[in-house]
Amino acid sequence: MKALVLSGGSGTRLRPITHTLAKQLVPVGNKPVLFHGLEAIAAAGVTETGIVVGDTRAQIQAAVGDGSRFGLEVSYLWQREPLGLAHAVKIARDFLGDDDFVMYLGDNVVFDGITDFVERFRERRPAAQIMLAQVDDPRQFGVAEVSADGRVTGLQEKPRRPRSDLAVVGVYLFSSAIHKAVAEVEPSARGELEITDAVQWLIDHDLRAEAAVMTGCWKDTGNVPDMLEVNRLVLRSLEPSSAGVVRDSEINGQVVVEPGARVTGSVVVGPAVIGSGATVTNSRIGPYTSIAEDCSIADSWIRDSIVMPRASITGVRPLESSLIGQDVEITRTPEPPSAHRLVLGDRSRVQIAS
Ligand code: DAU
Repeated sequence: MKALVLSGGSGTRLRPITHTLAKQLVPVGNKPVLFHGLEAIAAAGVTETGIVVGDTRAQIQAAVGDGSRFGLEVSYLWQREPLGLAHAVKIARDFLGDDDFVMYLGDNVVFDGITDFVERFRERRPAAQIMLAQVDDPRQFGVAEVSADGRVTGLQEKPRRPRSDLAVVGVYLFSSAIHKAVAEVEPSARGELEITDAVQWLIDHDLRAEAAVMTGCWKDTGNVPDMLEVNRLVLRSLEPSSAGVVRDSEINGQVVVEPGARVTGSVVVGPAVIGSGATVTNSRIGPYTSIAEDCSIADSWIRDSIVMPRASITGVRPLESSLIGQDVEITRTPEPPSAHRLVLGDRSRVQIAS
């Protein structure tokens, strides 16, 4: 079995972060979202992995390399334009050959891994096996209808009126039958070749598509609230450790202070992580906060946030529910504040308390 990881696309809902960074490389708990998927694939015993990349291919390649540190053998497959998930399967045809494969969407995190799901496919060998999860609002996902014996009977992509509350999770298992299906489907209303339509094609041609409904936790990190939620969940799973320098500070609960980090005169409330080379001075960090490597935080309070590498935050109290990009600088205006001064990239979103 091979793995196909989709790490192209445009990440429009995460702009402006995705103007300069692949959405799959946004760190949650100081680890890129994509790495959680690659670890799950390796844990399921799959090694040969093709990563579909688009405009951000250089970044993805620099971050993942040959995959050996995950125990994977990674090849890169360039998709010139993000024309849909089924299109990504099409361009991977030579890499996949006639092997079975697990397709993993690089912006999804499945907290209990995918090993059981892969095993089940190996035992039953349907043409397709999709993972489903019950959600409150299925309209932003693929939605499946399932018969009592676990067969998928129908699929809709982001329907206005969903026929069930079962969302399609971004992990699929396919036999080589999918190649005929992706060759047959037409672009959808949003102009993409949809993998949901390809699975529907299998069903319409009497090929078996099975569902595995998961009970564990899964998230698509496509927007900021979901990214922050994944950050919270990942932080909750970290083992506390302190390899950095902590002086005159209080560290409470589940906190990781990475090697080379310096925390001085501060309070850090877990779950939280302070990245290597970061300095935290006279500040309150956490709970649910990831401070990435080489950040500088002084005289600030930050909770429930992701702060990406090399950002510098000084004199800001409090900051919450924020996604702060790489090399961002936030400072306080001199007292009394006469006006806010902002230099914001296109599509930035700022809420100001005044
Ligand atoms: O997250 C689960 C959902 O993922 C499913 O419920 C939907 O049925 C499925 O269509 C998909 O919907 P999204 O709109 O969330 O897909 P998105 O465009 O975010 O793409 C998912 C991943 O695949 C992401 O890492 C980017 C990558 N991608 C996407 C496209 C369209 C590619 O590599 N190439 C592409 O052409």
